[in-house]
Amino acid sequence: MLLRIASLFGALAYAQLQSQNTTFNSSYHLTPKQIQAANLSTALVGQVELALNFERSNNAGSLTQFDPFYDLPNGVNQSNLPPYGSILKVEQYTNTTYYTLPATLSMSRFLYVSETLNGSRVVSSAYVLWPYQPRKFRGLRSCSGATTNVFPVLGQAHGTTGQTQACAPSNIRSLSGAYDEPFTMALNGYAVVATDYAGLGIPQTPTPYFILPAHANDVFHAVAAAQSQWPDLLSKQFVVTGQSQGGGTAWAAAQRQAKRPVPGYLGTLAASPFTNILADINGEDATQVNIRVVGIAQGLNSVLANFTANQWLTPISMARLALLKELVGCSAVANQLFSSKQGNIFLRPGWNETEAASWYTRNVQNGGKPFAGPMLVIQGTSDGNAIESVTTVAVNQTCQMYPRNRLRYIRATGVGHNPIMQAAQVDWLDWIKDRFAGVREPEGCQSETIGPVRAASSVVKGQNWIILYDQFGI
Ligand SMILES: *[C@@H]1O[C@H](CO)[C@@H](O)[C@H](O)[C@H]1NC(C)=O
Ligand SMILES: *[C@@H]1O[C@H](CO)[C@@H](O)[C@H](O)[C@H]1NC(C)=O
Ligand SMILES: *[C@@H]1O[C@H](CO)[C@@H](O)[C@H](O)[C@H]1NC(C)=O
Ligand SMILES: *[C@@H]1O[C@H](CO)[C@@H](O)[C@H](O)[C@H]1NC(C)=O
Ligand SMILES: *[C@@H]1O[C@H](CO)[C@@H](O)[C@H](O)[C@H]1NC(C)=O
Ligand SMILES: *[C@@H]1O[C@H](CO)[C@@H](O)[C@H](O)[C@H]1NC(C)=O
Ligand SMILES: *[C@@H]1O[C@H](CO)[C@@H](O)[C@H](O)[C@H]1NC(C)=O
Ligand SMILES: *[C@@H]1O[C@H](CO)[C@@H](O)[C@H](O)[C@H]1NC(C)=O
Ligand SMILES: *[C@@H]1O[C@H](CO)[C@@H](O)[C@H](O)[C@H]1NC(C)=O
Repeated sequence: MLLRIASLFGALAYAQLQSQNTTFNSSYHLTPKQIQAANLSTALVGQVELALNFERSNNAGSLTQFDPFYDLPNGVNQSNLPPYGSILKVEQYTNTTYYTLPATLSMSRFLYVSETLNGSRVVSSAYVLWPYQPRKFRGLRSCSGATTNVFPVLGQAHGTTGQTQACAPSNIRSLSGAYDEPFTMALNGYAVVATDYAGLGIPQTPTPYFILPAHANDVFHAVAAAQSQWPDLLSKQFVVTGQSQGGGTAWAAAQRQAKRPVPGYLGTLAASPFTNILADINGEDATQVNIRVVGIAQGLNSVLANFTANQWLTPISMARLALLKELVGCSAVANQLFSSKQGNIFLRPGWNETEAASWYTRNVQNGGKPFAGPMLVIQGTSDGNAIESVTTVAVNQTCQMYPRNRLRYIRATGVGHNPIMQAAQVDWLDWIKDRFAGVREPEGCQSETIGPVRAASSVVKGQNWIILYDQFGI
């Protein structure tokens, strides 16, 4: 066993490809000009370079910014786009050599037309992760009416990867979420249709980071685009799913569905969802706050005409945000650049009391608004990002206002932000299966708390591993 690992690591060091480095040692070096403009200490320079190289080693083969798949086809530009949901480019069979996917799955990628918050058209990218065999449901038909080899569709909304072109899950080896979401879903027989969210993947498009209703547009239009491309294979019926930023997006999708119903919608799984985001941020661990607020400032800047990010961010933040864009860095780089270890230097005091902050809350908040059920909300009680009490308030408000709507709320004791996907995996997989099987959820709200049967202290708290690329495969 030791020998196998040693020889694997030896081989990786000589790989020609941009294979996962065993050391994650950086080969990219910041220029003196970049270092000065962003006021980086020597230690921080090392951390940023390390994080950047780590991110780059996680891209599937080519870096997103050098992968021609993400370029718009000839003759198409952002100002002459066809209607929402139109397909612009299809990679029928993605070369999965540089991805770290479970064996037997296959993958496609496509570019399609999505919709910004104000209704303008925008190009977005997406992938489909196909199972070896679809899960079979009695009576499930494809969009074209086929009854065999019909893949039930999940419209998946991913968690935070970052906010530049390089952060597109469709070009990340493990697709972001890996066994928490897309791998498990596809291995259970669902076709996972996953948008990258507008601005990720596509060059020079501002990312409306954490503008959840805009991401929800991306989810619906990606599903429609995929259905138009593979009408014989994909079901008309679909369930929306998502965790974290994606959980907030999924809830926003259920609210969109109440206003703009899309045929085929069967319900929403919202896992550790962001609801009242400013309240979540108040409860968040300090290490997470800066990166989230900097991200939202950039996202809001892209959708709110009278807002510029510097209304919330200090000059040093603005300089580092510029560096993040120049490096095409994602969350790992941003975590270094905006690390709270450097003190409280990034956010202007009172940023969250500004008019823009209340506009953000009014327009982006989930909960207390009409939604299309059924919806399953799953939440860990030890979540340090989407705070449990905040989610509970959103669920309560919603249940009080819409007491007959179908909302099931499962809380898992002692479980954190991402681990909720594992703690409640049996619950959410069963719930999704019931939607396609036509099982009716009871009317109204249901609430349940689950906990570990064995000693809580014996339960693994969080994931302390990543998937390592193995160029040989087995
Ligand atoms: C990075 O590389 C340098 C020089 O090759 C080496 O001294 C250092 O130990 C490496 N760091 C890590 C984390 O491997
Ligand atoms: C891996 O890290 C080492 C040490 O910094 C470096 O020499 C090598 O070029 C890196 N390999 C890749 C593929 O990035
Ligand atoms: C740059 O960083 C140093 C400490 O590393 C700090 O003393 C100085 O105030 C910073 N300058 C600006 C403009 O933020
Ligand atoms: C976009 O396409 C339209 C119509 O084809 C064309 O008139 C316009 O010049 C193009 N814009 C850019 C920036 O290429
Ligand atoms: C996929 O990419 C690998 C590495 O570049 C290459 O060897 C292989 O031929 C490609 N497969 C197909 C089907 O193009
Ligand atoms: C709509 O939003 C997009 C980006 O989100 C922006 O480029 C465009 O100018 C906006 N259009 C209007 C009419 O406000
Ligand atoms: C900025 O625009 C929003 C949306 O149009 C509006 O609600 C808000 O009052 C404006 N803020 C200021 C300071 O003008
Ligand atoms: C703004 O942040 C401060 C300090 O973090 C907090 O005390 C206050 O309640 C927040 N205000 C809102 C509206 O969230
Ligand atoms: C939510 O509602 C339940 C049942 O009505 C109640 O016991 C609980 O205190 C409420 N929680 C919050 C945070 O409002």
